[in-house]
Amino acid sequence: MAVISPYSVGTEVDVSNFLITRLQATKAIKIETIQSLWSGYGEIARYKLITDGKEEQVIVKNIQPPSQVEHPYQWNNEHSHQRKMHSYHVEATWYKNWAHLCSVETPLPNYLASKFDEATGQSIMVLSDLNVQGFPHRREQLSLDECKAVISWLAHFHGQFITKDPQSNWCDDLWPMGCYWHLATRTDEFEAMPDNELKHQAAAIDTLLNQCQFQTLVHGDAKVANFCFSDDFKNRGVAAVDFQYVGAGVGVKDLIYLLGSCLSVDECETHYDILTEFYFQQLISAVKTKLTKDDTLSLVTQWRQLLVFAWADFERFLQGWAPKHHKRNRFSETMTNQALAELKSNNNLD
Ligand SMILES: Nc1ncnc2c1ncn2[C@@H]1O[C@H](COP(=O)(O)OP(=O)(O)O)[C@@H](O)[C@H]1O
Ligand SMILES: [Mg+2]
Repeated sequence: MAVISPYSVGTEVDVSNFLITRLQATKAIKIETIQSLWSGYGEIARYKLITDGKEEQVIVKNIQPPSQVEHPYQWNNEHSHQRKMHSYHVEATWYKNWAHLCSVETPLPNYLASKFDEATGQSIMVLSDLNVQGFPHRREQLSLDECKAVISWLAHFHGQFITKDPQSNWCDDLWPMGCYWHLATRTDEFEAMPDNELKHQAAAIDTLLNQCQFQTLVHGDAKVANFCFSDDFKNRGVAAVDFQYVGAGVGVKDLIYLLGSCLSVDECETHYDILTEFYFQQLISAVKTKLTKDDTLSLVTQWRQLLVFAWADFERFLQGWAPKHHKRNRFSETMTNQALAELKSNNNLD
């Protein structure tokens, strides 16, 4: 039986000492655990720092890898452990090397400090507290306008890092391919898939997405739980966290994943056209100073065509990883079938 070895509570002292040393605080006190990290890998917590009588709040992502892992979906092996450990490393690299390039259109926490112990895999990352910065709300579902606010964040993020014909190593300190479900890192789940048309076409779909002429950085886990909201959502009222799977990709991968996470199947059917249109409008304005008019047109045309393939690609992951997952629904099935039909008709034309 898999046994979770709980991360040691004693590490709270280590974290406090680290905060005192690195951030020159007089005192560091844990206020609360926000949540445990996935599969018992540690916790994310809020700390209070006191320096010369002044108080400040920070967020600590405290990674203490367990010796044995119990996974909710039974994908419990060395492969998934290595992927997870690398993802924490990528997240720290993102904050250290890339996050400062983001514009005011894409609020996110400030990086304050981190440390990594190669021998044990333990690491600590310290970020500014978005609650204090005006983003105290969390949501599970979004209205149409609220969803647009998150889409705007994504479009500006994608616009910021848009790259035409990128060199293969343009972001290789992050994931060479962003998003946690992409085919190259999900061979176990691929094996577990039923033998069907989607499985046969998985590599072709992956190639279409990854060989698109226009790549950017994708957030990689852009579900509604990874966004924090201001009181009214308006005026840059959305900020993002959780950059463990940030890397190269086409922006529509983040878009479809967001829609699947915050809208019901009925809402997807009703609002899909409006929301994807809104995404492209925002993207066009975000790349205004970065691409020519012709390139912008090509970008929009190419990414629009890739929408159904992005759905199919995520559906491929779910069919292996968690076939009964609620995100496998009528809408994702329709999109997947459309992608497969397009591939078939393209092959017939060849
Ligand atoms: N800098 C931050 N400020 C405020 N809240 C945060 C911050 N970072 C994370 N959180 C909160 O903690 C939750 C978990 O953090 P996250 O990095 O997403 O960890 P996990 O990898 O376990 O999902 C987030 O969904 C968010 O609500
Ligand atoms: Mg998260």
